[in-house]
Amino acid sequence: MEFAIALTPHSSTSLHRQLYDALRQAILTGRLAPQQRLPSTRALAKALSIARSTVTQSYEQLLSEGYLQTVVGSGTYVCDQLPDDLLRSQSVPTASKPAPTSIQLSSYGASLADLAHPATAEPAAEISFRYGRPALDQFPLEQWRKLLSLHCRHHDWLDYAADPMGYGPLRSAIAHYLSQARAVHCNPEQILITNGTQQAIYLTARLLLEPGERVAFEDPGYLSARRIFESQGARLLPITVDGAGFQVSHLEEVSEAVRLVYVTPSHQFPTGAVLSLARRLALLAWAERTGSLIVEDDYDSEYRYEGRPIPALQGLGLGQSVLYMGTFSKVLFPALRIGYIVLPLALVEVFSRAKWLADRQTPALEQAVLADFIAEGHLERHIRRMRSRYDQRRQTLVAALKEVFCDRVTILGENAGLHLMVRFQTELQDAELIARAAQAGVGLISAQSHYLAGGEGHEFIFSYSELSEEKIQTGIERIAYFLKPARL
Ligand SMILES: Cc1ncc(COP(=O)(O)O)c(C=O)c1O
Repeated sequence: MEFAIALTPHSSTSLHRQLYDALRQAILTGRLAPQQRLPSTRALAKALSIARSTVTQSYEQLLSEGYLQTVVGSGTYVCDQLPDDLLRSQSVPTASKPAPTSIQLSSYGASLADLAHPATAEPAAEISFRYGRPALDQFPLEQWRKLLSLHCRHHDWLDYAADPMGYGPLRSAIAHYLSQARAVHCNPEQILITNGTQQAIYLTARLLLEPGERVAFEDPGYLSARRIFESQGARLLPITVDGAGFQVSHLEEVSEAVRLVYVTPSHQFPTGAVLSLARRLALLAWAERTGSLIVEDDYDSEYRYEGRPIPALQGLGLGQSVLYMGTFSKVLFPALRIGYIVLPLALVEVFSRAKWLADRQTPALEQAVLADFIAEGHLERHIRRMRSRYDQRRQTLVAALKEVFCDRVTILGENAGLHLMVRFQTELQDAELIARAAQAGVGLISAQSHYLAGGEGHEFIFSYSELSEEKIQTGIERIAYFLKPARL
């Protein structure tokens, strides 16, 4: 060894760490050159008057980190290329560097180029009527935490699940709930647990659609579902929505084959219309006659404030032409990512395979906690409690809108769900209105992007679930303040 190594015997840093630091430093500064042979552990231990095991420990650490290499029968050498160089050259490109353009994407990958993440369109305002969240601060976290820690005592949840369709007790609990509360025909074997409705729709589109095939879609309709169908190459057939929901009679006029129909019959998104019984029966009859399949997205049917609950479309038929979807994103919390599909029997096997290919299974621990949460009655209690809380918020919003804007506002779909739609009579363009609201600290969402062919404007989605009554009242007053001088 040509260079001196100074070790401090009674330092708080161990001798092996001091030796490791000294050797690493020597390598990095070039005092020990690439391919240079190091003394044997015995020789170095003797030269430094330390235990051989101390030297061995330091060498092993440098070997495992890639500073040293051993050549069998010859000794230990400094590596040619050091880990620090590799780390430098492989550093993640910074956002300021241009994105690589030479990487060839699949047609699916290329089709996503213009897809904006919905969250980017959300207003970050002091009072935001943004859509999509339940009141997260009201979730019984303590109850959830107890069940979670109870299950965390077992190792069973850590293995791959035997069945990609989902956790048996959860599927049974959902089947029971759906037949009682939503009059859905199903047994647990037909239920596939998915990562939210998003995955349910995604798998459906993957398995049932060929590029170019027709999907009848509510207009206006749920943008995230539409994006999935578009990404799979579907040709969307806009079907207008009126006060009684999706205009089923328009389907009769279509001469081309329609592979799928996507509907939100209990609470049309975003208008809130309820699909009338006559139209439900006509839609089912049409699907059975044409061999088309219906995707029923029953996303927030748990919240109904006036009138009798409307049974699901699926339960009115034989259940063989409807894929019924539900989610816990609205009744519990969206990050849970648990939803489900009730499948026609003939589709169970293929969906099970596709789910396995997509992600093997929905996380087991959360499914187990949810199954207990339902079985112990917490879900029902939470829904009951939230229904009355949301009802108060909804009534505050409706009353404030009516009081402030009188007959210059039309309120749609206020009897159910977590949002309503508002049509203002105003000369202001939506963008202008949104900008003025933002200046007043109020976040508004236009319904425009939910129209396939672009709506007429002046329509806004007002979600009340997250906002206190006080904030709702203040929000509407602030909008009124700038809308009134602008001639509503
Ligand atoms: C119409 C509709 N369906 C489904 C969902 C829920 O989607 P997910 O279960 O993927 O959270 C939403 C949420 O905003 C919705 O608006």
